[in-house]
Amino acid sequence: MKSNRIRWALPILGGLLLAFSGTIHAQQSNWLPHLAHNHGATQIIVDGKPFLVRGGELENSSASSLLYMETVWPKIVAMHCNAVLAPVYWRLIEPQQSKFDFTTVDGLIQGARQHHMRLVLLWFGSWKNSMSSYVPDWVKENQQRFPRAVRADGTSLEILSALSQNNLSADSNAFVALMRHVRNIDSAEHTVIMVQVENEVGMIPDARDHSAAANAVFLSPVPSALTSYLVSNKNSLESALKQAWEAHGAKVGANWPDTFGVGRETDELFTAWTEAHYTGEVAARGKQVYPLPMYVNAALIRPGKLPGQYPSGAPLPHLFDVWRAAAPTIDFFAPDLYFPNVVEWANRYARPHNPLFIPESGRADAANLGANAFYAYGQLNAMGYSVYAPEFLKPEEQQTLGRAYAVIDQLTPLILANQGTPRMVGIRAPSNFAGTVDLTPQQFTLGGYTFLVHFREPASISVGAKVEPEIPGAHGGMIIQTGPNDFLVAGTGMVITFAAASEPGSLAGIDSIWEGNFVNGTWTPGRELNGDDDNQGRSLRMPAGQFTIRRVRLYRYR
Ligand code: DGJ
Repeated sequence: MKSNRIRWALPILGGLLLAFSGTIHAQQSNWLPHLAHNHGATQIIVDGKPFLVRGGELENSSASSLLYMETVWPKIVAMHCNAVLAPVYWRLIEPQQSKFDFTTVDGLIQGARQHHMRLVLLWFGSWKNSMSSYVPDWVKENQQRFPRAVRADGTSLEILSALSQNNLSADSNAFVALMRHVRNIDSAEHTVIMVQVENEVGMIPDARDHSAAANAVFLSPVPSALTSYLVSNKNSLESALKQAWEAHGAKVGANWPDTFGVGRETDELFTAWTEAHYTGEVAARGKQVYPLPMYVNAALIRPGKLPGQYPSGAPLPHLFDVWRAAAPTIDFFAPDLYFPNVVEWANRYARPHNPLFIPESGRADAANLGANAFYAYGQLNAMGYSVYAPEFLKPEEQQTLGRAYAVIDQLTPLILANQGTPRMVGIRAPSNFAGTVDLTPQQFTLGGYTFLVHFREPASISVGAKVEPEIPGAHGGMIIQTGPNDFLVAGTGMVITFAAASEPGSLAGIDSIWEGNFVNGTWTPGRELNGDDDNQGRSLRMPAGQFTIRRVRLYRYR
């Protein structure tokens, strides 16, 4: 059995810890944001209720100026976000060692409260996209005390070495100070609901640190915490790791190359272990003072790239086991989705032991980003979805994303109640890495009805047309069953036909389709869509270029 890595934020233990610190009453801390398993899905609980993150992750530099943030908040509100993922920069909060300045953090929290947003804080500490550009000057300039990683050819990198205890203490001291500060100012309000520890940890352009300290550890026995994990989980290990370990004799107590072989893959395993251990320690120390859920994000791999050619050692699917063994305090690993094959990558992160949270998505138009969100919440039980740098989207793109998030907002109580159950599905026409969309119709069964989802215009029977052109724009959405014959369908760019799944010989027809919205939680219908609008009772159309909700009642006949 894999160790259960999701550390439910243990509100009661948190209560005791915080009560001992003398600043928070146990009763208050029972309400700390935490993760909980509800009807088959992991959810973030905020103020006692599940919370679905509709996020925007600020562009890297936005949160360094509170004045600048004043221009950002209204855009975030207009896009119907309910949470902002915001960096906290180590170099700005600790400009001199042990002298902390939390002005930017206080301003963020205040701004979020004024705009009714929750915050996920991103700790820009030792790693930011594999580099160490956010460390304070007093760390950057003292390489003797805060050693750097070194390339195989001896060149020093602007990356702190994960092997240095000084680096780890300096980073974790700052992180602990941050968490203590957040606890002191926010443990009653819970504006801050979660924390990302470091940002896109990893090593590039070498797959591992070749400093003398790193080389010595590389040639020492693989830590027993990792080998015992391999032994106890040998039947469920990720295949590349299992193969490498078993091909070299499933050794315990041998050094890294003897245990896993010589080569860049083993170098990457070593980086995964050392950077995960460091990151896990930072998180563990922070959780001791304020136990919010904590996760680590990963930059993904382009096809064909080898360790050393992408940020290596990150919490990537083939390294999940190493991360679990090295950093058990991390609640989950999160993918940064910038490649077109979002469906593939999101599925690789949505695992029984790894609930899905998407902190960053981008390099797609807003309609496709919105369609991804429907799929992630509806099909993969995502706790949250967030677009990177929404404040930089063009105004029309901000509007499109806002419309997608507004629909999600309306459906949020239903999404949260149905995640993990067979009453909800998410739909997305998947793309490959090159961006080619697979328009093959998809079939879903809910409540004894089959929904056949088309991403092409059905050929018109009356004119005998054969060609089925692609419906323009993005294709994605969700279906939620609300009664034996009642369904809500939301999304964009799809045509859906129906069949009776459970009764042989039965057919399914459309009783009614209504457009509408939830206004203050109450379904408020618009027009009934019939005639030309449902192809004379043949299909449900989710219009291209818009995000809409349809209430559908079906019936069976023979
Ligand atoms: C991923 C990083 O995590 C972000 O901070 C940002 O650098 C984006 N990439 C930019 O594409």
